[in-house]
Amino acid sequence: MSYLANFTSYNNTFTLIYMTSHFQNNLDFAVSLDTNDTLKNFRNRFLFPHHNNKPVVYFTGNSLGLQPKTTHASIEQELKDWATFGVEGHFLAQNPWLSYHELLTDKMAKIVGAMPEETVMMNQLTVNLHLLMVSFYRPTIQRFKILCEAKAFPSDQYALQSQLSFHGYTTSDALIEVAPRPNEFHIREEDILEAIEKNKDSLALIMIGGVNYFTGQVFNMKAITEAGQKAGALVGFDLAHAAGNINLELHNWGVDFAAWCSYKYLNSGPGSVAGAFVHQKHLANTSLPIFAGWWGHDKKTRFLMDNTFIPMKTAERWQLSNAPIFSMAACKASLEIFEEVGMEALIEKSKKLVGYLEFIINEVNREKNNCLQIITPKENRGSQLSIVANGYGKNLYKGLIENGVIPDWREPNVIRCAAVPLYNSFEDMYRFGQILKQLL
Ligand SMILES: Cc1ncc(COP(=O)(O)O)c(C=O)c1O
Repeated sequence: MSYLANFTSYNNTFTLIYMTSHFQNNLDFAVSLDTNDTLKNFRNRFLFPHHNNKPVVYFTGNSLGLQPKTTHASIEQELKDWATFGVEGHFLAQNPWLSYHELLTDKMAKIVGAMPEETVMMNQLTVNLHLLMVSFYRPTIQRFKILCEAKAFPSDQYALQSQLSFHGYTTSDALIEVAPRPNEFHIREEDILEAIEKNKDSLALIMIGGVNYFTGQVFNMKAITEAGQKAGALVGFDLAHAAGNINLELHNWGVDFAAWCSYKYLNSGPGSVAGAFVHQKHLANTSLPIFAGWWGHDKKTRFLMDNTFIPMKTAERWQLSNAPIFSMAACKASLEIFEEVGMEALIEKSKKLVGYLEFIINEVNREKNNCLQIITPKENRGSQLSIVANGYGKNLYKGLIENGVIPDWREPNVIRCAAVPLYNSFEDMYRFGQILKQLL
């Protein structure tokens, strides 16, 4: 078994090295990669912004994914049913609104490696993080600390700080932030594991982004979960940059809880409905503290309008309110595409696409005095490469935008590029390289 696993991993690495060593920086080669790409037709399922009558090179699927062409009809159906049925649409709509969120569950669960009963689409990401921490951050005199990555996304930092202060702690008492070592960009796994071990008697919770938004570093969620739980803590992840991007096995890894948004790699539209995961092992525990609302009440008796809360035995218990149908309609259109293509095929293309992007950047770099530095770790990355352009600053980013490439800029000095396998082409990577070369 382990020989086989090693062999497979050797084989994958070998294939990747073989592939990347055969890359070429020219249009014909990029086009030939597209021609042989089995997922190439999915690009046509998305709407691209245009620049000079040409689709832009869209590198911001890690911020706001592109709109699937089917989204319009999916939302329109609900507008039509609202016009036709009014309130009766809860029962009579083509997809009755009362149970609309259930249409998303199985598809979403597959993407994050969860069981359907562990998965729910609801609210927004930061809201879900708070709701889950109500249940899973239960500090005691002995165990009260939270461990997170340094420079987590600001909303996560505010959420953690405010959870601590809600329970009467300060960040200096109770927040452990694991940072990269001096002059390094990534957080070393060994440093996270060491911080867990060092704080094992006082650690209540680990809450880390599955993929760091700034560097694109993918954390070893399996190892962190194991180590955290061995130390007696609960372990949750913010999967904003992970869901729909990398392989996730939340159930098998035994992760306690997780939350993510659907507007990045999941292409569900600005501010669209978010996701939440609660591991099966917690679902039978009806005494877990939660902030409750009527949509978390047992659905068989919800409309008896009784004042005693009877919790659902699935992740739906954490729902508060009736579902936002229009954003769910957008989410549904997108998840149908994911269902069709499957995460395995997406990840396979993603590796090749991001490998080609890296190759192109390195080619430009050779010609331009190595002024570019990719700070995303090669071994632990998804679709995103974060680039520091030494000596160029924000003007380089602006130049890219003016020339039809849309990456994003993160203060103080990083350009983030996400090569999204659903709709980015190998030609996009080549075009980006040409424009970048001109600008440097
Ligand atoms: C890692 C991460 N966490 C949290 C958030 C905040 O998400 P929301 O505004 O949907 O709560 C974002 C938004 O981009 C994010 O990237």
